Amino acid sequence: MYERPVSGLEAKTKSRSRVIVLSVNGETHEVMVRPRHRLIDVIRDQLNLTGTKDGCQSGTCGACTVLLNGRPVLACLTLAVDCDGKEVRTIEGLAENGQLNKVQEAFLDQGAIQCGFCTPGMVMSATALLDDNPKPSRHQIDKALEGNLCRCTGYNAIVDAVLQASGQGGVKPVMK
Ligand code: FES
Ligand code: FES
Repeated sequence: MYERPVSGLEAKTKSRSRVIVLSVNGETHEVMVRPRHRLIDVIRDQLNLTGTKDGCQSGTCGACTVLLNGRPVLACLTLAVDCDGKEVRTIEGLAENGQLNKVQEAFLDQGAIQCGFCTPGMVMSATALLDDNPKPSRHQIDKALEGNLCRCTGYNAIVDAVLQASGQGGVKPVMK
């Protein structure tokens, strides 16, 4: 279990701002936040992890999806102060030793990316789904991704990619 370290910086803070401690992609960060700051503000503006997209800013598009203690959340609707002491995983934290994870690989194989704006959120939601349910049905994938909007792909390639990542679908043949 992640343990919140004691912070010297926190002891000096006297304003309404406060220091929170986050584990982001396995690294511990102390960040100063105001009560109105959202998790996505910290991720993008303070930690420079810009893979997570700030789309609608109102909980509609899913582009800002990250994992908080392993569960998918909308970072645009999550207050940073509520994340104190928690573990955050963003799209930048999925690859290991330079290798994309199986969902990322499958999105590439299936051509499930066009403009790419929705892709980080889609991949995070799909990764959370497969962590919970390694062999989801097409219907279960649809349900898991229903909060992630895509204007470009028509969704079929995305669902095919999640099926491939779960070992239930084949890699598309490469066009020559
Ligand atoms: S930016 Fe968070 S749901 Fe759209
Ligand atoms: S690839 Fe463009 S919004 Fe999904």
